[in-house]
Amino acid sequence: MINRSFPNTRLRRNRYDDATRRLVAEHKLSTDDLIWPIFIREGGGAATPVASMPGVSRTGLDGLAKHAEAAARLKIPAIALFPATPAGLKNPTATEALNANNLMCQAARILKAEFPEIALVGDVALDPYTDHGHDGILEDGYVVNDESVKILVRQAVNQAAAGIDIIAPSDMMDGRIGAIRAGLDEAGFINTRIMSYAAKYASAFYGPFRDAIGSGGALKGDKKTYQMNPANAEEALHEVAMDLAEGADMVMVKPGMPYLDIILRVKQRFEVPVFAYQVSGEYAMIMAAVQNGWMDHDRAMMESLLGFKRAGCSGVLTYFAVEAAKLLEG
Ligand code: PBG
Repeated sequence: MINRSFPNTRLRRNRYDDATRRLVAEHKLSTDDLIWPIFIREGGGAATPVASMPGVSRTGLDGLAKHAEAAARLKIPAIALFPATPAGLKNPTATEALNANNLMCQAARILKAEFPEIALVGDVALDPYTDHGHDGILEDGYVVNDESVKILVRQAVNQAAAGIDIIAPSDMMDGRIGAIRAGLDEAGFINTRIMSYAAKYASAFYGPFRDAIGSGGALKGDKKTYQMNPANAEEALHEVAMDLAEGADMVMVKPGMPYLDIILRVKQRFEVPVFAYQVSGEYAMIMAAVQNGWMDHDRAMMESLLGFKRAGCSGVLTYFAVEAAKLLEG
């Protein structure tokens, strides 16, 4: 039994010097924990900055290999791809999502050829391709579930065929994990992994992302009929249980920082790898404070990422991935 009474116990002793603090540290962030989300756009030329996400840009296909080089050099294990689809290619049924030569597929082929050791994560949802900005098919103003799932399955198979290693459905339709698993298996992609956005909340923190991929202006209404209510926690456990039953290999909680309680509860309940998405608004929030001189960039970044490890995450999707890896490897 530890004698917990003062002055026998002085907890500050274990904080006395750096060596001791390192010895008793309970959690550690490593480069192996990082997934780097990147934005891809049509055309060449210099990368175009995303105004609301200082330090983040949209990269054309011809600059993609160079852009990803930092991740390869730093041994970041995975990159998540997000296409900014030209408005002219968007329509109500997201047909561009099924084009074997769409931006995402082209980017996947380039990265696979150049950096085969990096796992590619493909976001499966229709919002980059619909002219109304919703993640599924809209009928009378409602995103219809089963019809949307049929297209999502084909989108997932299209991505797997282009070399995407980890399919990450972010659409929040019911039953999509099971349908996508069956579709992938049927197409011969039995080893393509599924990381489901199992508990994805209808969040204000996605604002800068929608700017980045150009889906924000177009979005009619909100996503509250499919993304989760921020008031709910038990429902997240229900979502995770269903996605696991349907064949998800890994699950994600999104956003990250306002939902650390969800991460902890999911990790405590299920023996599976849990990931967090530190989303665009979380990144923007930290960077805005940094740019105002109100917080230290490196410390705020590392503390926010360590928090995910402490909550139980196996890894984090973060726009800070390269900067964090530089510090970790430095
Ligand atoms: C699309 C998708 C979104 C994000 C990832 N995939 C936005 C949304 O649901 O509207 C957000 C990521 C971020 O904010 O960084 N289904």
